[in-house]
Amino acid sequence: MMNFDDLHQEAKKKILDAKDLKDLNDLRVYYLGKKGPVQALMKNMKDLPKAEKPAFGKKVNELKQDLNQRIEAKRDELTILEMNHKIEKEKIDITLPGRRTRSANLHPLTLVTEQLEDLFIGLGYQVIEGADITDDEYCFERANIPKDHPARAMQDSLYIDENYLLRTHTTAIQMAVLEQNAPNLPIKVVCPGKVYRRDDDDATHSHQFMQMEGLVVGKHVTLSDLKGTLEFLAKKMFGQDRQIRFRPSYFPFTEPSVEVDVSCHICNGKGCPTCKGTGWIEILGAGEVHPNVLKMAGYDPNECSGFAFGVGIERIAMLKYGIDDIRHFYTNDQRFSDLFDRFE
Ligand code: PHE
Repeated sequence: MMNFDDLHQEAKKKILDAKDLKDLNDLRVYYLGKKGPVQALMKNMKDLPKAEKPAFGKKVNELKQDLNQRIEAKRDELTILEMNHKIEKEKIDITLPGRRTRSANLHPLTLVTEQLEDLFIGLGYQVIEGADITDDEYCFERANIPKDHPARAMQDSLYIDENYLLRTHTTAIQMAVLEQNAPNLPIKVVCPGKVYRRDDDDATHSHQFMQMEGLVVGKHVTLSDLKGTLEFLAKKMFGQDRQIRFRPSYFPFTEPSVEVDVSCHICNGKGCPTCKGTGWIEILGAGEVHPNVLKMAGYDPNECSGFAFGVGIERIAMLKYGIDDIRHFYTNDQRFSDLFDRFE
C-alpha cells in the first residue's frame, strides 16, 4: 500500500500534468472513486487504534478536499486552454486576399450613346425613344419620301409585311415627335435607337446599327444654330481643337441638306490613314427640316423652322476608340469589351 504522502505527491503531480479535460476526469475518477487509492486508505482505518482514527479520518478528508480543489483549478485552466485552442483552430485568416469578382463595364455603344445624351441634355434637349418596328408612313411618307421616290432605294429595308418594317433610320422617331408636338414650340429632342437595313455585313456595314436623331424646331432656327450645335458635339466627342465643315448634300426630309465633316482628331487635319489623307472625317448628315415635313406634321413652315441631324453611333465609337471593324460591336468577344474599362 502506498504511503500517504507519496500518494498525495503523486496525485498532485498527475493533476498538474493532465493534458486535457478527459485526462483530468480520468484522474478524478481514479483518485476519488470508490476503487481508488484514497478510498483504499480509508479501509485501513479499521486497523488503527481507536485514538488515531479521528486524526487519520480528518487527514484523508483533507487529502480528498485538496485533490478536489486542485482538480477544479486544473479544470478551469484546461477549459480556457481548450477554448483558446478551438478559437485558434477556427480562426479565419482575414489577411488572405479575397477572390476578385469580375466587374463588367458598359458596352462602347452604350458609352457613346450616353455621352451624346449627356451633352444634349446639358443643352436642354429631351431624350425620346421609339419602337424599332414602324410603318411606311413614319419611316418614309412623313419624311417626304413618297412611294416612287428613288431615295427609298438608299435604304434597302427589312419589311415585316407590306406596311410594317424595321425602321431604317431614327428619322422615323423624329416624324412621330413632330406629329405629337404640333403645333407647340419649341421642340428640342435627341432620339437614340437601333436601325436596320438589308445590308451585307462587312468591316464597315451592318444590317443593324445605331443612330441618334437630333431635332430642334422653333422660331428662326437656322443653319447657323445647327452649325454651332454640331461644333459643340464635335469638340465634346473629339477634343476642343476640332473644327467642322458643311458640305452640300441631299436628304428628302431636309432642305438644305449637309454632310458634316470634323477635322481629323488623329492627325489634327494634316492627313493620315484614318481621314484617308484629307484631314477631314465625315460624321453625320443634317439639314434644315423640309417645309413639307413640317406641314405634314401640322406645323406652318412660315411660322417656324428647324434643324435635324442623324449621327451613327458606331461611326462615332469607331473614330473615337480607333475600332477598325464594326462587327466587333456585336460579336461579344470579352477581350474587346474589356478594353472599354479605361474609357469611363
Ligand atoms: N436619316 C438620315 C440617314 O439615316 C440621317 C439624317 C437625319 C439626315 C436627319 C438629315 C437629318 O442617313
